[in-house]
Amino acid sequence: MSSLRLEDLKQYSDVLRTRQGEAITVRFVEPRDTEELQHYFRSLSTRSRYNRFFGAISELPKGLLHEFLRVGERERFTVVATKMVDGFETIVAEARYAFHAGTSTLEFGLSVDDRWQGHGIATALLKNLECRAAALGAEHIFGDTLRSNQIMISLARKSGFAFVNHPDDWKLVRFDKEIHLAPKDIPCASWRLAALSRQADSPSASA
Ligand SMILES: CC(C)(COP(=O)(O)OP(=O)(O)OC[C@H]1O[C@@H](n2cnc3c(N)ncnc32)[C@H](O)[C@@H]1OP(=O)(O)O)[C@@H](O)C(=O)NCCC(=O)NCCS
Repeated sequence: MSSLRLEDLKQYSDVLRTRQGEAITVRFVEPRDTEELQHYFRSLSTRSRYNRFFGAISELPKGLLHEFLRVGERERFTVVATKMVDGFETIVAEARYAFHAGTSTLEFGLSVDDRWQGHGIATALLKNLECRAAALGAEHIFGDTLRSNQIMISLARKSGFAFVNHPDDWKLVRFDKEIHLAPKDIPCASWRLAALSRQADSPSASA
């Protein structure tokens, strides 16, 4: 990948709005977030953690925590959504996504702090993930959820995703959306710029 200059991760930050108009910053996770990220997962309700990881865990196992912090490695990325709470930058949501170049798809999973659920944060984050998918050149964005996770199913439906059976696991359902956004039409400014620079760098652009 790397026409998206990962050495300067801060330029890929976006400001999203909750339904009430409060600002939420979405940025790639950084090493300084290690403790706070683990604290975030520990503070999720048991049900939210189960829905996020499809199993009972109380925190991120060490190996997975390290993977979460290795942004860009093997086209896998973690973003955190943060908000100032009592003067501290606090993680209120996270998403992890992987770009599969072979199938031009972007796969993702996400969660929102229980105290902040129902404020439209996941809806906004999903739109932002669609921008990121388009900037990477993905033609589809998809995620998996437990069939019992009515909230995620409802969110995906409202966000325009279609549902298909999971190829390997009957307990899961896959939601998928086609991305058809030309780089110049990507609604998130930083990702529009990233896509336009990727397009300019690609060999076919100068052919
Ligand atoms: C699923 C999840 C990400 C939704 O986050 P959120 O920020 O609360 O979602 P939003 O506020 O954007 O709500 C979007 C839609 O979800 C549905 N929804 C949200 N909260 C709901 C609730 N408590 N009950 C029923 N539906 C709900 C609604 O359809 C809502 O749209 P509406 O407000 O227009 O009615 C959040 O519940 C979560 O983190 N769950 C645990 C982790 C998880 O399930 N991840 C998904 C699998 S990877």
